Amino acid sequence: MPLIVGNWKMNGLGADGVSLASAVAAKVKSAPAKTREVVVCPPFTLLERVGAAIAGSGVSLGGQDCAPKVSGAFTGDVSAPMLKDAGCSWVILGHSERRAGHKESDALVRAKVEAAEAAGLVTIACVGETLAEREGGRALDVVAGQLQGSLPDKRPERWVVAYEPVWAIGTGKTATSDDIRAMHAHIRSYLERRYDRITGVSVLYGGSVKGDNAREILGVSGVDGALVGGASLKAEEFWAICTAR
Ligand code: PGA
Repeated sequence: MPLIVGNWKMNGLGADGVSLASAVAAKVKSAPAKTREVVVCPPFTLLERVGAAIAGSGVSLGGQDCAPKVSGAFTGDVSAPMLKDAGCSWVILGHSERRAGHKESDALVRAKVEAAEAAGLVTIACVGETLAEREGGRALDVVAGQLQGSLPDKRPERWVVAYEPVWAIGTGKTATSDDIRAMHAHIRSYLERRYDRITGVSVLYGGSVKGDNAREILGVSGVDGALVGGASLKAEEFWAICTAR
């Protein structure tokens, strides 16, 4: 069953966010069978309202980041227990926009993953190379290094890794099916070497997934679903991705 996660990023004010969430919820609810898992990750300010809009529909709620600490003097931060309290069951961590724009290191991402798992959230840990790293032939090593540094040694029951090549995010460019297949196989073999079991893990692809390329991407072996940015802001297109496989 594919897992489709909508990352709204810093988009959405009250009425628009609620109507987007309601439209997605209505589509999921009216679908004949549960053949996909759908998560929406709105900005913090909309969590409670989106949570109310999707209640009972089968759509789950996630945050886009959390702090590594539980509480305290950390102005502007939101902790994992706060996300849980606001109705989240998922959280995206280590997104490249946070790694680049907020200087998040692998060690910080790992601390956040640990905090989120301790709070009972399912973590979506993002990894991915830049264009220079890919062109320099270092994509596989960069991603393995990010996995090594960002994931805790102990694995929970359910966990998600999202491969998002930085150069494909929001650019309209996607990796080729061959590159996606190779990277997903690389990620799985890394995880198999490091952990005694990798049951419960889903490996998602992200980066310019749209209604018109979702079928091909979701059909690549080793791809368990998609992390969707821009196209998750339009209910019809997001639903087209949700139903592509
Ligand atoms: P995009 O974003 O679909 O707009 O490329 C994906 C992401 O950043 O998660």
